[in-house]
Amino acid sequence: MITPVILCGGSGTRLWPLSRKSYPKQFSSLVGDDSPFIATCRRLSGPDFDAPVVMTNADFRFLVTDQLAQLGLADARILIEPASRNTAPAILTAALSLADTPDALMLVAPSDHLIGDEAGFRAAVEKGAEAARSGQLVTFGITPTRAETGYGYLELADSPDNGNSQSVRKFVEKPELPRAEEMLAAGNYLWNAGIFLFRVRDILAAFEAKAPDLFAPCKAAWEAASPDLGFFRLGEEAYAEARDVSIDYAVMEKSDNITAVPYGGGWSDLGAWDAILDALHKDESGNATYGSATAVHCENTLLRSEDKGMQLVGLGLKDTIAVAMRDAVLVANLDDAQRVKDVVTILKQRD
Ligand code: GDD
Ligand code: MG
Repeated sequence: MITPVILCGGSGTRLWPLSRKSYPKQFSSLVGDDSPFIATCRRLSGPDFDAPVVMTNADFRFLVTDQLAQLGLADARILIEPASRNTAPAILTAALSLADTPDALMLVAPSDHLIGDEAGFRAAVEKGAEAARSGQLVTFGITPTRAETGYGYLELADSPDNGNSQSVRKFVEKPELPRAEEMLAAGNYLWNAGIFLFRVRDILAAFEAKAPDLFAPCKAAWEAASPDLGFFRLGEEAYAEARDVSIDYAVMEKSDNITAVPYGGGWSDLGAWDAILDALHKDESGNATYGSATAVHCENTLLRSEDKGMQLVGLGLKDTIAVAMRDAVLVANLDDAQRVKDVVTILKQRD
C-alpha cells in the first residue's frame, strides 16, 4: 500500500485572474471538468492506496474538505501549515506524521499537475515502488522539450530511451539558461516531474543527513498538532522556525540514492496560461476557448470567460491570452505568460 501525500500550498499567481489567494488554481477546473486537486486525489485512490495525507494551509482547508467529500474520501488526514515554508518542511512533517509505519511507501504529489496518461502513470508508480522498497528516493522523469529554467533536471547514466528506471547521477534544480541548454542538448537528462516516491524511513534518514536543521521544528510542530474539526493544526511557533526551502534543494540535489522512473505520457505543471493553452484541445488555427468564448479569425489564442452571462469574443488576435472573470479581465501577449505574476505584485501594492 502507498500513502499519497498531496501538496496543496501554492497560490499559482501566474494564473491570475482565475487563480486567487483565496481560491487557487488547484481547486478550479483548468483543463477538463475536474479540478487538478480532485484529479490528483482520484488518481491516487483505489486498492493500492491508503487514505491521503493532505498538506495545506488554513485558507484552503474547506476547499480541501469540500473537494475530498465530492470524491467520498472522508478519511484523509489534513495537516494545516500555520505558515508557508515550502515543500521540504511540508514533506518532512508529513513523513513524521507517518513515522510509526517506517516501511510504508509515501507518494508525494503536487495537486496542480496534469497527468495525461493514467495507465502509463500507474505503471510508472509500480516500477517506482520496487525501487523505493529497496531504499531509493524515486522521482518521475519527463523527456525535456525546451531549455526550461523553472524545473529540476535528472542526469542519467544512459540515454533515457528504454523507459527503464535508472539511478540519477546528479539532480540539478532550476539551472541558469546556458546550463539548461547544455542539458537539453546532452540527451541523457530528464525533467523532474516533482512527484516523489519513497519509504517513510528513507526520507526521514535523508532529511536527517542532508537538512538536519529542519528536524527539530517540524517534529515539534507535529507533536504540538491538535485535531481540530478533523484537521491537524501544526504547532505555529515551532513550524515558523523551519527554514523556507524546497525538497529539491534541501535533499534531492544532495542525495546519491535517487532513481528516476521515466513517464512518457502527457504531463504539465499547468503553471501559466501558455501551459494551459498547450494542454487544451485546440481548433485548426491553434485557438482554445473555454466557457462563453469565441475566437474569430484568431491564431494561437486562449479565450476563457468564467461568467456564463459574459460573451468574450476575440477577433483577429494572434498569440494572445484573454481571461474574463466576473470581477477582473486579463488581456496579455502569450509571450508574457510567465510575467502574469508581476500583475499580482503590482495590484497588491495598490491595495
Ligand atoms: N503544502 C504545501 N506547503 N505545499 C506547497 C508549499 C508549501 O509551503 N510550497 C509549494 N507547495 C506545493 C505547490 O502548490 C506545488 O503543488 C508543489 O508543492 C511544488 O511546488 P512549486 O513551488 O510549484 O515547485 P516548482 O514548480 O517551482 O518546482 C518543483 O516542481 C517542478 C515540476 O513542476 C520542483 O520539484 C522542480 O524540480 C520540478 O521540475
Ligand atoms: Mg510548480
